[in-house]
Amino acid sequence: MNVLLIGGGGREHALAWKIAQSPLLGKFFAIPGSPGIKDFAECVEDISINDNAALVTFAKERAIDLVVVGPEAPLVNGLADALNTAGIKSFAPTKDAAQIEGSKIFAKRLMKKYGIPTADFEVFDNVDAAKDYIRKKNAPIVIKADGLAAGKGVIVAQTLDEALNAVDEMKNFGAAGSKIVVEEFMAGEEASVLALTDGETIIPLIAAQDHKRVNDGDEGLNTGGMGAYAPAPIVDDKIAAQVEEKILKPTIAALKAEGIIYRGCLYAGLMIKDGAAKVVEFNCRFGDPETQVVLPLMESDLLELMNACADGTLSGKKISWSKDSAVCVIMASGGYPKTYKKNLPIDGVTKAKALGAMIFHAGTKIIRNEECAISNEDENNSSLYISNCSLVTSGGRVLGVTMTAPTLREAVDKVYKCVEVIHFDDAHYRKDIAARALR
Ligand code: AMP
Ligand code: GLY
Repeated sequence: MNVLLIGGGGREHALAWKIAQSPLLGKFFAIPGSPGIKDFAECVEDISINDNAALVTFAKERAIDLVVVGPEAPLVNGLADALNTAGIKSFAPTKDAAQIEGSKIFAKRLMKKYGIPTADFEVFDNVDAAKDYIRKKNAPIVIKADGLAAGKGVIVAQTLDEALNAVDEMKNFGAAGSKIVVEEFMAGEEASVLALTDGETIIPLIAAQDHKRVNDGDEGLNTGGMGAYAPAPIVDDKIAAQVEEKILKPTIAALKAEGIIYRGCLYAGLMIKDGAAKVVEFNCRFGDPETQVVLPLMESDLLELMNACADGTLSGKKISWSKDSAVCVIMASGGYPKTYKKNLPIDGVTKAKALGAMIFHAGTKIIRNEECAISNEDENNSSLYISNCSLVTSGGRVLGVTMTAPTLREAVDKVYKCVEVIHFDDAHYRKDIAARALR
């Protein structure tokens, strides 16, 4: 099978690494890819992932058998629909299906209509009405922009003042914030369950736990995710069965009842308390960095499974898992999730790999040495094929360092040894990834 992967973050690097192990794989392309992904796929940087027509043309020209879409934006932008129209198969929910992430109002109304457990909520398009409602309900309370806001559209307000300010801040999200959801605050512990589905059958993957806040102890601003581990013990067998029967299956059935066949990865962000799970949010794609801990534990052929999702033949398939634990620590640029420097040389990737780490590139690029401030000393870095070129930082989240081991304790100890040998100026990472599970 010729495969085209859309995206270039850490999640897509993990997908590329796993897809590349499949005996079914023929030619492999990525748009735009990354310095990490190019170890597995030919990367094409001059096509935008939001240009559906150009992506369809590329897929046709290269006789692509399956397009795998990583990020949410092209899904919400209807890439799967454009591919379907052109007769190209994809592991990607359609635009209608992607509304489950693209519109929080759509997701909340769907859950309410079909009795899927989630926080109580109201929808507003009027600032004063929202504020009146918030005064009535009082804090803590949660304010969410309806549309995509790069993970920043949610404010968990601990005081009434914060909540009222949050309503005003929603206009910063433009059209995404023109309608808002005001939601009951849920206490508990969060976990992510990703699942593969063909619109009929749904198979959950092992549960993971993300760390969304930028600093240790879950302090500071929300980020795209600072680290993850799997399996997450908070999702025990009982919770896992509940998530499958009361959340995942009913959601796929609800979408079908609304005329939507959901094919791809459905991500359920959960809040778990007193043995019960409720939905915090749905995403229409794999999680980042959850993918970087879930896929290293998957023993089955991911490409075969994704193809079965696209074909509608997932029924009867099983996924087998390693008994190990995996942990991923995100190394971020100093300042992230606010402003940060770019083009800082990265050293030590080769050393970390020699210690057994998997390094997933989230925000890196290769530049000529004269363009980079300080010369890179890590000459043996596997990504530096070109002489006089250096691997440098190019994003907020820079690298995901993943380690697997028979126990979570061992995986955590080892991953931090690997993180410590990687250097770039101002590098920031959390030192307490998986600490909650270890406690
Ligand atoms: P979301 O983008 O909807 O996942 O929200 C981002 C983060 O905000 C979640 O991971 C939770 O930590 C928090 N959050 C969202 N909704 C709620 C809620 N109703 N109660 C408590 N925390 C929430
Ligand atoms: N790790 C959170 C997300 O992928 O949305």
